[in-house]
Amino acid sequence: MTILVTGGAGFIGANFILDWHAAGGEPVVNLDKLTYAGNLANLASLEGDPRHHFVHGDIGDGALVARLLAEHRVRAVLNFAAESHVDRSIAGPAAFVQTNVAGTFGLLEAARDYWNALPPDEQGAWRFLHVSTDEVYGTLAADAPAFTETTAYAPNSPYSASKAASDHLVRAWHHTYGLPVLTTNCSNNYGRFQFPEKLIPLVIHKALAGEALPVYGDGRQVRDWLHVSDHCAAIRRVLASGTPGGVWNVGGLNQKTNLEVVQAICALLDAARPRSDGASYAAQIRFVADRPGHDRRYAIDAAKLRRELGWEPRHDFESGLRQTVAWYLEHEDWVRNVTSGAYRDWAARQYAA
Ligand code: NAD
Ligand code: TYD
Repeated sequence: MTILVTGGAGFIGANFILDWHAAGGEPVVNLDKLTYAGNLANLASLEGDPRHHFVHGDIGDGALVARLLAEHRVRAVLNFAAESHVDRSIAGPAAFVQTNVAGTFGLLEAARDYWNALPPDEQGAWRFLHVSTDEVYGTLAADAPAFTETTAYAPNSPYSASKAASDHLVRAWHHTYGLPVLTTNCSNNYGRFQFPEKLIPLVIHKALAGEALPVYGDGRQVRDWLHVSDHCAAIRRVLASGTPGGVWNVGGLNQKTNLEVVQAICALLDAARPRSDGASYAAQIRFVADRPGHDRRYAIDAAKLRRELGWEPRHDFESGLRQTVAWYLEHEDWVRNVTSGAYRDWAARQYAA
């Protein structure tokens, strides 16, 4: 038997597949459309490994998904595939509705057909795990309690609205059709293989390139940062032991303002690769126009995941960030490889102002 991972060439999906194999997991079929964010170099260490079977395709392609589920006798679908960047969703929301909403719908329908035809004992063990985000809950005031699994959905960006819609579809496929689904809503991830459009790798890349470090608005927005391998461990735990129909928040209790994160990266780079003029990389920080509709604060209450499934994050932010900065410094070839023409065009438009 195998598991089907969608979006496995992206940041979290690739980390998940590598960690899954390191933890002794069964073979993986990896279905990925290879958008600008999909990068098979993330999985170079699995080249020729029979435990990884890559398929280039779209989660919304029902016939393809049906064939993969049957051919590989898939026992679980893990849906990481998505358009994932808020700024891109503001500039062009159509792809977000297409993949995150229509794509998830197509995947659910193919999963339902396959699951319906399974013998009852296999039906009971079968799972559809949907990887989602804390951004579906909207924004928090500075002193408000963290998001729990019962916080009302209030998405504010085209990205979070499309993820919220996909979460609702997943929920409905359980309540209406009995599909054994599991949903995780995670806070901001950081770590190796993250596309350098997201804050942490973007700042590392721009700092080393001698470019301005763009901080939106006043830089006092708060995000709750979690190391990607802690997120992957939580997903393995939910897949193994979560009760179908359940929702689990995943977060690291690492609330930081964006400015604190950017300053911490600058300090790490100052120590690891000092600028030739002796000045701090922090001199490159620039406050730029704010993101429209920018959510002020996210914070996750992961008590349910701790209590029910015994999950604890293993990385604290300080050592996790140090390890992450070191990884990007050691993998400048990876960064060069992903900073393709498409990415440069996007970045030029985004930061022209
Ligand atoms: P990413 O943008 O790095 O990767 C997305 C992957 O999905 C890429 O490999 C891309 O090629 C693939 N993909 C896109 N559209 C597809 C389609 N129609 N069919 C098949 N493949 C497609 O994203 P990520 O940061 O790895 O996020 C993975 C998942 O985790 C997403 O669902 C995202 O919403 C969720 N999430 C991300 C974070 C975070 O901080 N990055 C936090 C919480 C939840
Ligand atoms: P990002 O990594 O895009 O994740 P998300 O929007 O999903 O939280 O951004 C993290 C935070 O950093 C967010 O508050 C926006 C801010 N940010 C900047 O200040 N400058 C930037 O260039 C980017 C990409 C993000």
